[in-house]
Amino acid sequence: MVLIPLLRGCVQLLALPVYVLSYLGLWDFLCKSAFPFFMARISKVYNRKLHKEKRQLFSNLQEFAGPSGRLTVLEIGTGSGANFQFYPPGCRVICTEPNPKFEKYLRQSVAENPHLQMEGFVAAPGEDLRPVPDGSVDVVVCTLVLCSVPSVQAVLEEVLRVLRPGGAFYFMEHVAADRSSWNYFWQQICYPTWKLLGDGCSLTRETWKDLENAKFSDLNLRHIMAPLMLSFVHPHILGYAVK
Ligand SMILES: C[S@@+](CC[C@H](N)C(=O)[O-])C[C@H]1O[C@@H](n2cnc3c(N)ncnc32)[C@H](O)[C@@H]1O
Repeated sequence: MVLIPLLRGCVQLLALPVYVLSYLGLWDFLCKSAFPFFMARISKVYNRKLHKEKRQLFSNLQEFAGPSGRLTVLEIGTGSGANFQFYPPGCRVICTEPNPKFEKYLRQSVAENPHLQMEGFVAAPGEDLRPVPDGSVDVVVCTLVLCSVPSVQAVLEEVLRVLRPGGAFYFMEHVAADRSSWNYFWQQICYPTWKLLGDGCSLTRETWKDLENAKFSDLNLRHIMAPLMLSFVHPHILGYAVK
């Protein structure tokens, strides 16, 4: 269909200054610096709109606590710490995040959530969590991250490595829309520009397929339409997978 490349070109034209900065090699630095500022605000709106879903998703976290009753959660791409409020009291949290510019916002969330015990911060991408020992955590959490990582498969391999047997991986991600929908049409048009503006965020990932193909023993996955402003980020998956 010629309409999609045409409309994609129009969107790219509107964002021309960003493409020029990217061509000059300046955009990545600007985006990495500004993204945490915007994400800290966006995640507040996101949490408000999806409060019920997040609360329900994380409601059984404590069931995955180890034999001592203490729960250790490792979060991949913690960002500004938008999920902290949903973790149970006394929970030990290890944050991992490759962008150091999130630190200021993360510190703020840590201060706002004294019910948690912060265990540490690992400045690393989800594909390489080497400082975290094998089988050392009860739960891994990933929200709005798998859309941006260079390799979903490599992240899931690391998740399976750091989880103890019987531990769980919780996720909530926006994904590709049904291919016959208008949403998918718009996702294809906005895809390259959105990726540039959104720090590598891909609109058309069929992330549920990666989760189905990963070596989890059990997968609880739901597709929902999130009540967000932009329709092309409505399709979401959420749930948890057990190692
Ligand atoms: C849209 S933000 C979501 C932040 C947070 N998880 C939330 O739900 O608000 C995407 C996050 O993924 C992080 N990220 C990007 N690439 C990553 C990678 N390869 N491994 C881990 N995190 C990554 C970004 O730095 C950013 O914190």
